[in-house]
Amino acid sequence: MTSSAPIGVFDSGLGGLSVVRRMRREMPNENIIFYADCSNAPYGTKSVEQVRLLSCSAAERLIKQGAKALVVACNTATSAAAEQMREKYSLPVIGMEPALKTACEAENTAEKPENAPDAETSGRTVIVAATELTLREEKFARLMKRFEDRHTIYRQPCPDFVTIAENGQLNDAKITDKAIHRYFDKYDLSKTDSIVLGCTHFVFFRDAFRRVIPKHVKLIDGNEGTVRHLKNVLKAADKEADKDTVGTVRIEGSFADAEQKRLAFELLGETPETVTPL
Ligand code: DGL
Repeated sequence: MTSSAPIGVFDSGLGGLSVVRRMRREMPNENIIFYADCSNAPYGTKSVEQVRLLSCSAAERLIKQGAKALVVACNTATSAAAEQMREKYSLPVIGMEPALKTACEAENTAEKPENAPDAETSGRTVIVAATELTLREEKFARLMKRFEDRHTIYRQPCPDFVTIAENGQLNDAKITDKAIHRYFDKYDLSKTDSIVLGCTHFVFFRDAFRRVIPKHVKLIDGNEGTVRHLKNVLKAADKEADKDTVGTVRIEGSFADAEQKRLAFELLGETPETVTPL
């Protein structure tokens, strides 16, 4: 059995488009509706209750349009609301969390002290960049618990990254690089193995990070794992799109103006003309 129903994806703003980009590449047959809640961004500095309300309202908008699965393309909304959404709605809800497991299991690249144990067995040094809400929530505390005994893990909130992305300033190297310096100069990066990009907005800073951060520091995001998980869930539910169809994507959102909507297409890497309407 196949299903041509759309996959509903949402984020507090434009960051979730980094997930949609990956979905378009790896699931070209699927129809996607993406909702960017730009007028309410950032979620990361709000209370859990506020983020829950906003997330449920975005989810319901997508469910009303017949979504066969929901992708919460936002680590913050996942921390605050994914469990509730799974209880409340009957469709599969795919959430995200900072890819700390991937970072801790990745190859060791940093300079370790001379008396450190064998590189293969010594722990990793990882900085998790995410929103304030993601980093202070119970979900992340549980994740930390699984790895903090063996690895050195720092939490770094980066609220300005969200504002920069939402304001369309990602191509302004002066602004992006200055923000990266502000958050990361305090770390000894020669001893850091990786930085986890634990917010979907931050994935759009990869090029800027590569300019500022030493090459041996890996940049790890959760988009690949999320799309892999989504594919498995759809397969198990017998709800994948027909392999002979060409998928479409529709972008909706509480945009401030036409410019912000144009920016959404720019971040998706597709023009409104190439995006077949559903
Ligand atoms: N993109 C969101 C995330 O992955 C959060 C950005 C925000 O603070 O709204 O956490």
